[in-house]
Amino acid sequence: MKLILIGFGAVGQGFAEILLEHGDALQARHDFSAHIVGVVTASKGNLYHPAGLDIAQLLRTAETGSFSDYPESEPLRRDWDANDMILRGSADVLLEASPTNLETAQPALATCHLALDQGLHIVLANKGPVALDYGCLREKADAKGLHMRYEATVMAGTPTMHLAEDALAGCAIRSARGILNGTTNYILTQMETGMTYADALAQAQDLGYAETDPTADVEGWDAAGKVLILANALFGNSLTMNDLDVQGITDISSEDIDRARQSGHRYKLIAEARPDGGAVSPQQLPMSDPLASVGGSTNAITLDTDLLGKITLIGAGAGKLETGYALLSDLMAIQRAT
Ligand code: HSE
Repeated sequence: MKLILIGFGAVGQGFAEILLEHGDALQARHDFSAHIVGVVTASKGNLYHPAGLDIAQLLRTAETGSFSDYPESEPLRRDWDANDMILRGSADVLLEASPTNLETAQPALATCHLALDQGLHIVLANKGPVALDYGCLREKADAKGLHMRYEATVMAGTPTMHLAEDALAGCAIRSARGILNGTTNYILTQMETGMTYADALAQAQDLGYAETDPTADVEGWDAAGKVLILANALFGNSLTMNDLDVQGITDISSEDIDRARQSGHRYKLIAEARPDGGAVSPQQLPMSDPLASVGGSTNAITLDTDLLGKITLIGAGAGKLETGYALLSDLMAIQRAT
């Protein structure tokens, strides 16, 4: 598989590290091999090589903040942007892992449409296009017989979308409810141990959990984006942010958390997607609620199904390798299906 990777932050680098470390095993065990032919970034520069870029050099030069030290090797291009790579290159899949924009989904949305128009499968870690334009992207991908996958957008590489869309394909899912933001769950967990909100947020940023602009995490918009993705993908809705009630954790103080604990409760930011809408809000859960024991950056989701009742999945909600793995799992699913 030849890949164009948009974005080389925590997620893109995590994916590259996985290919570097596990490439031989993936080839031997699953006959899976992938070459990153293009990388497009906002601040490090762009690189395209039709035979595939050297992943170790990509990671090394990314650490310096620029690809300018990436070794020359004909016919390497540094002047192509994402459109050039899609239109003039020879990739099979576009991986969108640039920062999420939940207001317009751009520029990622236009890039995804162009990739589909040109016959590339698309795999997204960027939540914007899936949250805001799921219906049009799905229609275009289906009409062209292309794959559109987005495991990374909800609960990192924890197989939420694989579970809901593939393993549970014969069930009707009636609702999805859980903890869908790693940053806020990490902050709430750390605040319980006495850490300040500001220190806990700074740690979540250092650990690569938070969005580029962490306002999206703490005000609930990141979780709301995931609610839209679930609602659109599972219920065929075309909900928008205006259809959701969204509240984050910025109004919750250390005193609130202490008071909740004294009464046997714990604050969690709970997200819920239903066929008729959805919501994100901080809730005091009794300690007996299984979601109350999901701590740190771990996430959890309960899918209520018609044939199997409730199924709960608990796992990583954010992180470099954890989200990078989601891209790999989507690519392997595309390989199996093509
Ligand atoms: N900022 C997101 C979170 C990353 O904290 O959950 C994963 O979507």
